[in-house]
Amino acid sequence: ASACTGGKEGGSATPTAPVDLGAKGEVPVGGARLYREQKLVVAQTAEGEYKAFSAVCTHAGCVVDKVEDGKVTCPCHGSVFDAATGKVLQGPAGAPLPSVPVKADGGKLIAGP
Ligand code: FES
Repeated sequence: ASACTGGKEGGSATPTAPVDLGAKGEVPVGGARLYREQKLVVAQTAEGEYKAFSAVCTHAGCVVDKVEDGKVTCPCHGSVFDAATGKVLQGPAGAPLPSVPVKADGGKLIAGP
């Protein structure tokens, strides 16, 4: 499926320049959101505490397609990651989603360096 080309097309799994993710209110407190285009998952673990991860699966480079109930699911072979920590909850992926720096700048979320 085309979703499985993410790693190959996208080059680096983590941003090398700051990425504007728009209004920070789009990430629910205690929840997470997928930024499909930017290939990032952002969680807000507590009010104002944001964590971001690459949305490129560490198994074979698909872009994950679902963030629900604190879990990130890869469509290709069914790996599941914890949205708040990036850790693998279910294989075949063996490595966690790489963490990406993220900060709230005014009303916006900015990911990357
Ligand atoms: Fe994600 Fe295989 S690429 S589970």
